[in-house]
Amino acid sequence: MPELAGREHIKRIIPILKEALDEAGVTLEGVDGYAATFGPGLVGALLVGLSLAKSLAYFLDKPFYAVNHLEGHIAANLLAHPDLGETFLTLLVSGGHTLLIDVDGIGHYTIMGRTLDDAAGEAFDKVAKILGLGYPGGAAVDRLARNGNREFIRFPRALTADRRLDFSYSGLKTAVALYVQKLSADQLQRQMADIAASFQEAAVDTLCEKSILGLRKSKRKTLALSGGVAANSRLRVKLETACRALDVRLFYPPLELCTDNAAMIAAAGHWHLSRGERSLFGVNAVPYQKVI
Ligand code: KG4
Ligand code: ZN
Repeated sequence: MPELAGREHIKRIIPILKEALDEAGVTLEGVDGYAATFGPGLVGALLVGLSLAKSLAYFLDKPFYAVNHLEGHIAANLLAHPDLGETFLTLLVSGGHTLLIDVDGIGHYTIMGRTLDDAAGEAFDKVAKILGLGYPGGAAVDRLARNGNREFIRFPRALTADRRLDFSYSGLKTAVALYVQKLSADQLQRQMADIAASFQEAAVDTLCEKSILGLRKSKRKTLALSGGVAANSRLRVKLETACRALDVRLFYPPLELCTDNAAMIAAAGHWHLSRGERSLFGVNAVPYQKVI
């Protein structure tokens, strides 16, 4: 409900700003620069943050930078790991995106692979809905899968024979839906954890496989996981094993910096502002963008 999301932002943004300033022990005048997300996202919600940050920067005569949401996810890693360096491969997996991005310094991004249909997080959310776990359901699927058998059903792993770095999740989601349709309520109840674990294994397998292929193609020795799905416990374990074998350094943000948060936007804004980069006050919110 985009309209409701926008209205909720209006209600909450000033109290949250006050709380953040109190917690940091600074005043508005003491803030060196202002940043806000300009997109991609829901325009109504983006406009609220963008308008406030632009107004404060203008009024207080401070620099302003408009941040790409996806760059914010990449920055979450740098915020958590100052030793990450500026060149790495990142697997950005969220509710809206599934991307393999080669980072060749801040601001220099090459998309190596992307989803051809649904995002990985979207597949987690849809399977959570099919299993009656609520929305967003990625974390609930992850929790349920801990008690399940990963080999109970072999769900399809899309595009794994393909040498390109693209992903596809709509077939996997449909396979889970078709499987569940055939079950009685009783059977579903008994198999819930096994279905969650088998689905998660298929989803994570393709993420791992394409990340490894991406590491080989880019010759990078550092992989950074970002986005909400980077919180997935199975993804972390599998990538840790794979990266150890390849002598690749693996980084991922702490859980609270994986899913959408303002600290990662502030971190990305700080990179740019500290390099003297500024955005014009005319910058507008965009729902969609040529990714990054
Ligand atoms: O990055 P994010 O907070 O928002 C977007 O920019 O989309 O990602 C949210 C996504 C949701 O689809 C959510 O279900 C998924 O991240 N997610 C997870 C886990 N925690 C959150 N997916 C799998 N396992 C998790 N533990
Ligand atoms: Zn996000």
